[in-house]
Order: sequence, then C-alpha cells, then structure tokens
Amino acid sequence: MPDTITITDDRTGKTVTVPITDGVFPATAVRELDPNLYIYDPAFMQTAACKSAITYLDGDKGILRHRGYPIEQLAEKSTYLEVAYLLLNGELPDKVQMDQWKHDVTHHTFIHENMRKRFVDGFHYDAHPMGMFISAVAALGTFYNDAKQIDDKASRDKQILRLVAKMPTLAAMCYRFSVGQPFVYPDNSLSFPANFLNMMWKIGDYEIDPRLERAMDVLFILHADHEQNCGTTAMRVVGSSDSDPYSSCAAAAAALYGPAHGGANEGVVRMLTEIGSIENVPAFVEDIKSGKAGRLMGFGHRVYKNYDPRATIIKNAAYDVFEVTGKNPLLDIALKLEEVALSDEYFVSRKLYPNVDFYSGLIYQAMGFPISMFTVLFAIPRTVGWLSHWQELLADKDQKISRPRQWYVGTGERDYVGFDER
Ligand code: ACO
Repeated sequence: MPDTITITDDRTGKTVTVPITDGVFPATAVRELDPNLYIYDPAFMQTAACKSAITYLDGDKGILRHRGYPIEQLAEKSTYLEVAYLLLNGELPDKVQMDQWKHDVTHHTFIHENMRKRFVDGFHYDAHPMGMFISAVAALGTFYNDAKQIDDKASRDKQILRLVAKMPTLAAMCYRFSVGQPFVYPDNSLSFPANFLNMMWKIGDYEIDPRLERAMDVLFILHADHEQNCGTTAMRVVGSSDSDPYSSCAAAAAALYGPAHGGANEGVVRMLTEIGSIENVPAFVEDIKSGKAGRLMGFGHRVYKNYDPRATIIKNAAYDVFEVTGKNPLLDIALKLEEVALSDEYFVSRKLYPNVDFYSGLIYQAMGFPISMFTVLFAIPRTVGWLSHWQELLADKDQKISRPRQWYVGTGERDYVGFDER
C-alpha cells in the first residue's frame, strides 16, 4: 500500500498526490488543487497545526509520554523541576545541570514589591484567584522590558526561568490576598513544591508533611504538559504574533480557566457536593443521560478514548494524601459515580472515562485548597508546558502568524440604508 493520498477536485478533474507521514499529510495539497479551497474543521478536530517533539499521546491506548518517557515513570521517579527541564531541553539533566537549574529557579522566585502592594491590592476583596492570576501573569511582563527580545536566546531563557520560578509566588499571593492574609515571601531553603505550600499556608510555625510535599510535586508533574490542548494552542496562537511570553502565558491561562478545560476540577467538586450521597448517584447519572444535569464533570476527553493515565496515578496519590489529611468524604461518591458511569452503555459507547480532573479536586480539597484555587494549581506546572511549546514554535521554520481561514456564511453585498428607510 503506498504511503500517499490522492485528492481529486471533481469540479476541475485536477488531481494531487502527496505523502502521508506518521498519519499526517500536508494541507498544501489542497492549496495546490485550488488556492481558494479550504478545509472546514471547527475546533481543529482533524488538523495538526504544528510538528512537536515534546509530548506523545495515544488516546485510544491511554499512553502519555514526555520526550519519550512514560508519565507513570516520571510520576514515580522524577520531580517536577526535573520534568520541567526535560520538557524544555529535550533530555533529562545530568547532576550538574540539575543542580544549576534548581539553583536558578530557587533564586528567581521573588516578585517585585509593586506587584504585591500596588497591583494585587487593586482587586476587589472577593476576586477569583484565577482571574487575578491571569492578570498578574500579564502584569509581570511589564517589569521585564527585555521580554520583548524573543529572538535572543539568552533573553528567552531568562523569561522562561522567571515564569517557571515565579508562578507559585503569584499563585500564593493571589490566594493570600483573597483570604486577607499577609503575603509569605519565598523561602530559598525549600524545594519547589514545599516553597509553594509554605507560601500558601504558613502562619506562625508551619511544618510541611513530606508526603504532602511529594503529592504536590506529583500533581505538578502530571499537569506539566499535554500537547496541543486548548491552553497550549492559545499559547502558540498568541506567541505566533511574536508577543512576549508573559502575554502569551496569560492568554494560555485564560484558556485554561474555562470549565471545559482546567476549570473542570472545580466543577467536579461542586458536582459531587451537589450529589450529596452515594444513594443519589444512579439518579444523577440518569439526569446526565437525559441532559437534565449537564455533563458529568471530570469525564470525557477530546483525545483519550480510554482511561486517562494521569487519572490512574492521581487516584492512587489520593490515598497517600488522605493518609495525612483524612479521607475526603466526597471520595465515596466519586468512586460510586465512576463505577456506575463505567458500567453504563451511554458512557461506554461514547468512550467517556475519568480524566485528570476527576480525582485531582478531591486531593486539592483534602489538602485545604479552596475550590477557587484549583485551576491556579493547574496553571503553575502547565506554565512549563506552555513555554516548551512557545520555544518550539519560535524555532520552527514552518510556522508563521496563526491565521485560520473562515467559511463566510453572512449576507452578500448590500447598500447602506438610513434610519428612515429601515
Ligand atoms: N458527560 C456526559 N456526556 C458527555 C461528556 C460528559 N462529561 N463528555 C462528552 N459527552 C457526550 C456528548 O454529549 C456527546 O454525546 P452525543 O454524541 O450523543 O452528542 C459525546 O459524548 C461526544 O462529546 P463531544 O462534546 O463531541 O466531545 P468533545 O471531545 O468535544 O469534548 C470534553 C471533550 C470537552 C472534555 C467533554 O468530554 C466534556 O465536556 N467533559 C466534561 C468537562 C471536563 O471534564 N473537562 C476536562 C477535560 S480534561 C482537561 O482539559 C484538563
């Protein structure tokens, strides 16, 4: 069987044959047939908008690998900072590189005092932390005029370091403001996850349980990248206009905020709370199926048509966390919901399985995070994914400013008429 595809334009009889590589063929084939012929593909369901060497995902088999390494191995053996290095650089660091990277991140965690005193103080007392976070990321860029030098590798590396290092600080700052507590400065003696937990929770003496520190790190690893999801696509689209990385990350964070994307873990906890008890699960599932109760939050995925491998790891991590915090009472409802859904024809036939968000919210809640912080917790580690794709985009000679075509379905030309004639 030849690895080619032949397309014939029946209007003209013109034919083009192009190669299929790794299941992909170039859209230039269509342009060759007719430069005014477009492919209608809402939500990019069938479109590969870029080449990428960062993350491999097989949704049917439930496989997720970063730079070739299975997510299961990274979650078990690695740390978030090591995975961040891997995503950005393509290889695991050696000991010297790792020590340097850790040192650099640790020494870039502070933010300008005006960010905290002037910028954050302007928000309303009950501002949603994610709204604050999105704006804070964009505002952070205004402190670094060199951020616009995106053609300079040294400048790009500096901004990447700043963004990776300062995200936990911004996140904790948004939270402390929202609960009216004083800001806790970063502590350079702590690990990346421990420093974040410390900035979140420290009041007087605060000791971090190493099991929670590790759980936080595993959650960061699991959320670090997920190839061309909505947020990463936003990063690439905005980055393609040569925007600085802070503005692009703010756009990506805004995309993540939506309940169909990173906001789903918030939706899961609200949904489980509303269900209230195990007995109500079957009726709730029926309401979902009949369309009365919306969608089953934390279920389904554009790419995974099998169990999301991150959901399996998170489900196990949940038990480690509950050992420290006590069991989240919503867990039993979640387990029952999963059991009922996975044995129901509606969900089975549509290949709807739990995704990463189904159990993550339960862990976050058990650790004391308010629901409004859940998407912020996602954005902290995803920043490195966004930045890895941004770097890759800038180095990709095939890329230009993102500018899809449209299928115009509006009215044809008509003459303007004044008020009297309308
Ligand atoms: N509950 C009930 N039915 C669902 C769900 C769900 N969670 N997800 C999809 N379906 C149904 C749809 O109604 C549709 O049924 P139909 O064929 O009878 O019309 C079918 O499954 C296919 O759904 P689509 O909307 O075409 O699937 P799509 O790939 O566009 O959506 C999405 C993926 C957005 C994740 C969807 O499954 C969803 O809304 N899930 C709930 C929200 C959620 O958990 N989001 C987090 C995703 S993971 C992440 O972003 C980190």
